[in-house]
Amino acid sequence: MAREFSTVGVVGLGTMGAGIVEVFARNGINVVAVEISEPALERGRATLTGSTDRAVAKGKLAAADRDALHERVHFAVGLDALHSVDLVIEAVPEHLNLKQRIFAELDRVCRPETILATNTSSLSVTEISVATTRPNQVIGIHFFNPAPVMKLVEVVRTVVTSPEVVADVEALCGRLGKVDVTINDRAGFIANALLFGYLNHAVGMFESHYATREDIDAAMKLGCGLPMGPLALMDLIGLDTAYEILDTMYRRGGRDRRHAPVPLLKQMVTAGLLGRKSGRGFYTYERPGSPVVVPDEATPPATEAALADGARAIAKVGVVGSGTMATGIIEVFAKAGYEVVSVTRGAEKSATVCEAVKTSLNKGVVRGKLAEADRDAALGRISWSATLDHLADVDLVVEAVVEELSVKKALFASLDEICKPGVVLATTTSSLPVIDVAMATQRPADVVGLHFFNPAPVMPLVEVVRTIRTSPEATATARAVCAALGKTGVVCGDRSGFIVNALLFPYLNDAVKMLEASYSTADDIDHAMKLGCGYPMGPFELLDVVGLDVSLAIQRELYLELREPGFAPAPLLEHLVTAGYLGRKTRRGFRDHSHR
Ligand SMILES: NC(=O)c1ccc[n+]([C@@H]2O[C@H](COP(=O)([O-])OP(=O)(O)OC[C@H]3O[C@@H](n4cnc5c(N)ncnc54)[C@H](O)[C@@H]3O)[C@@H](O)[C@H]2O)c1
Repeated sequence: MAREFSTVGVVGLGTMGAGIVEVFARNGINVVAVEISEPALERGRATLTGSTDRAVAKGKLAAADRDALHERVHFAVGLDALHSVDLVIEAVPEHLNLKQRIFAELDRVCRPETILATNTSSLSVTEISVATTRPNQVIGIHFFNPAPVMKLVEVVRTVVTSPEVVADVEALCGRLGKVDVTINDRAGFIANALLFGYLNHAVGMFESHYATREDIDAAMKLGCGLPMGPLALMDLIGLDTAYEILDTMYRRGGRDRRHAPVPLLKQMVTAGLLGRKSGRGFYTYERPGSPVVVPDEATPPATEAALADGARAIAKVGVVGSGTMATGIIEVFAKAGYEVVSVTRGAEKSATVCEAVKTSLNKGVVRGKLAEADRDAALGRISWSATLDHLADVDLVVEAVVEELSVKKALFASLDEICKPGVVLATTTSSLPVIDVAMATQRPADVVGLHFFNPAPVMPLVEVVRTIRTSPEATATARAVCAALGKTGVVCGDRSGFIVNALLFPYLNDAVKMLEASYSTADDIDHAMKLGCGYPMGPFELLDVVGLDVSLAIQRELYLELREPGFAPAPLLEHLVTAGYLGRKTRRGFRDHSHR
């Protein structure tokens, strides 16, 4: 029979502990909430009150239930208060020595049958457990931030954790309304092992001025549908905690350089910039603990005028190409009121593209999103041509031809001869260096990357890539055009993968390596990222949608450019591609889609 948990103890009421107290008390379990000092206890109490009051204000919790919840929580300073609880969850800062000391003390204070759990994100549960005389009753219960919201709990068993304890804790997770995945003791478990390399990489991008904090965060939110950008997430996690997690993962996880904390992190922690909890991290918050971001000296001006500062006027746009991207881009510009000249390699191709644009616009009409008159006006703005000569008087050219450097270079050389001076020349390449294309012209200052996402009419993000030769005016023009299209343009440097792919694909590749190492299953890994981190799709779902061949090609590019050993494509990914399992398009990738 499953063990009864009527009273649990929570040690440390910081970012995680206060949330964990709320989870238990909400589910009818009594909690003894312990801190190191009176002021810390008061802070923890205030966090709990703030969170439950917000839940009441949002109508998610009845006032009476909130009061009952608070009655279930007993606050105390010192571990002695935990003498008769059934389970303790420790959530003190991420330091092995501190946790070992606390576990030794808990072992002394608590009843012999009490289960002792740690909420550690990266430390070895096994090493923590051996500080007690009951390592078989020590387990990891890893909640996600914010604990009352995120559904996932990683249950971490060591080689000595007793199976009954694992089963009891799994049953408890169910009672708390959580979904648990049970795994072995490895640095970062599932979610953090996949998350922190990505977060650290994003901090590195920010540190090197590759892109602004707003642009990095907007790119991942709008390009991947993530609930928050990586820098905002770092602020939520707490930079001190994030630093310790990275540091531990680096040391325990095979010294992968991607986990070596970016130096800026240490500097920020030393300077007391800990994220939301201290009121300032990558962003500035209304006050310590507040989720509300307030403008600071790094906040970009929001007005349209500022955006257009130095931008050239664009009225007529040329789009070269006849594939999926070109078709979508033609539609986007025409709908936004630009005059568009479409150039393909022949009348037949133009007819196909024209049909595709019509079909797509018609869909908008059928769905009630576009008036018939607007559809007709958009189509009326497009002229169809098979010769580049018709681009002599456009203000902007967007190239979306095949992803081959020689083809793009030849095209840009021709554009250089045909187009009038002052035109912005843009390539939609997703993997080639924009500077290579720019140098095929005599006007590299006017060349930018405009990386649209597929499907272009739907996706709200465009990456504006500036090379070391791109002029500020060309960048400003590109950004202003994105705004006029109703899209968010994020500006970044000319590096493989720009922002989104550079941050996304190594994470997907890491998930494949984790599966390959048999640490967990594709289902559990997908669950962990969706329920623990709020991702719209798990990594294997996404890989099957994107295509394994496409993913492998992008990962290879990243590896070749940066020579980062951690970016080496996962052998399993290569094998699946070789075997022809490319994802949904071949009805088999990581999963079998033949029956769906
Ligand atoms: N922040 C996250 O997003 C997150 C997510 C999951 C797990 N974790 C893990 O949870 C644990 C806590 O992290 P956090 O972010 O909540 O840290 P935090 O710094 O926000 O809170 C830690 C709390 O522990 C208290 N404390 C310190 N020493 C103590 C002692 N001897 N006795 C009692 N209380 C003590 C501190 O006063 C503080 O309130 C860490 O192991 C961390 O890795 C963090």
